[in-house]
Amino acid sequence: MTTTSVQHALEGRLPVGGEVTVRGWVRTRRDSKAGLSFVNVSDGSCFAPIQVVAPATLSNYESEVKHLTAGCSVIATGELVASQGKGQGFEIQASRVEVVGWVDDPETYPIQPKAHSLEFLREVAHLRPRTNLFGAVTRIRDCLSKAVHRFFHENGYFWISTPIVTTSDAEGAGQMFRVSTLDLANLPRNASGEVDFSRDFFGKETFLTVSGQLNVEAYCLALSKVYTFGPTFRAENSNTTRHLAEFWMVEPEIAFADLKENARVAEDFLKYLFRAVLDERADDMAFIAERVQKDAVARLEAFINAPFEQIDYTDAIKLLQASGQKFDFPVEWGLDLQTEHERWLTEQHVGRPVVVSNYPEHIKAFYMRLNDDGRTVAAMDVLAPGIGEIIGGSQREERLDVLDARMAQFGLDPGHYQWYRDFRRYGSVPHSGFGLGFERLVVYVCGLSNIRDAIPYPRAPGTADY
Ligand code: 4AD
Repeated sequence: MTTTSVQHALEGRLPVGGEVTVRGWVRTRRDSKAGLSFVNVSDGSCFAPIQVVAPATLSNYESEVKHLTAGCSVIATGELVASQGKGQGFEIQASRVEVVGWVDDPETYPIQPKAHSLEFLREVAHLRPRTNLFGAVTRIRDCLSKAVHRFFHENGYFWISTPIVTTSDAEGAGQMFRVSTLDLANLPRNASGEVDFSRDFFGKETFLTVSGQLNVEAYCLALSKVYTFGPTFRAENSNTTRHLAEFWMVEPEIAFADLKENARVAEDFLKYLFRAVLDERADDMAFIAERVQKDAVARLEAFINAPFEQIDYTDAIKLLQASGQKFDFPVEWGLDLQTEHERWLTEQHVGRPVVVSNYPEHIKAFYMRLNDDGRTVAAMDVLAPGIGEIIGGSQREERLDVLDARMAQFGLDPGHYQWYRDFRRYGSVPHSGFGLGFERLVVYVCGLSNIRDAIPYPRAPGTADY
């Protein structure tokens, strides 16, 4: 007897006629007039459940098998046989079905075998992984994370764990969540009534990181090619379908690389990830294409096959102004591009991914390298059809005097960035990197319309349950 995953049993590599055991959760049960029950069991190892054919001769057939409902957990043992059912390669002719856990109230079990709205499923985020859609999204997300590490491993990068608790505002945008270890009602205060952070656990005012970039830059300037991949936090009150308060970011950093090299790595990286999903999760992508986004597979193929278009920000503004398109937000040199502008550029103007570079210096972060024109910085955003910005990156300012001037311009306290200034004092070199919003990637691959469905437990304004 072999205890196996459903995936393994369905793959056709186990001997037909052999005895196998699978363990999982009931999706559906159908009883035939011939005195048999067909119980679909999923263990999440692949998209499809396996059909367990339970005959009436089982000792617990009347007492238990005929009462199984969606969500019950079972261990089924029997002969693996070729299935007569359409689209099912193999099934199990059960000799034993053990019920491990019942559903105490089948009527109110939230995950019934029918279509549920995504809004409803967000309210039962702890049970939604049992649905077809969230099973598929979870396996695709896992495949993408593993491919992230594999890409960097194959290309000579080192994975650096960067801190979650920090004093530095890596983006200088003031969107940080404060960390406090103290009783909020009794914060220690000095004589002037200000909060005294020196008595806090960290002895300083600390925050959740908005990006691991500044920390990973330090390692880039020693190990040359590095990346960080972890959760990041933004206290921006953006109640949109594209923003989360807690999201995962992949941030490579490359020494001696300019913006061009950075854009090339971003392109190779995205294409590698999409290839991995198409190769490794064909079952889940077929479901996504059938139920969520018809062209889900075709557009990843198209993405892989199209060279990215490079457009200068200044040219992008001219193109948008000449488009004749009515936009809700103004298009003007010096203003940031909004999603509607990004989508017009990538979907309607070019029809493939676009890298927009060299943005006005005052709308981008302090660490981006000032171009010779003194008006723009060596920043790049990668825009993808169907979603807009998916990657943001830049060549970093490696000249100490320019960096200091930029920090002063942004009103940042150099005291908080002494360590970051040190890299520009000791063997400074040109270097570049970017950040890929991991949930935006999952949204794109899975054709989702809301980023809250791309992460197991979404955190957004007003949403922190579970
Ligand atoms: O453009 P951002 O803010 O860049 C950085 O954080 C840099 N430190 C990255 C770097 O150069 N190492 O964010 C990078 C990406 C965006 O392109 C977007 O995909 C994603 O992170 N992102 C968000 N995703 C979900 N929710 C949010 N609130 C996000 N903010 C940014």
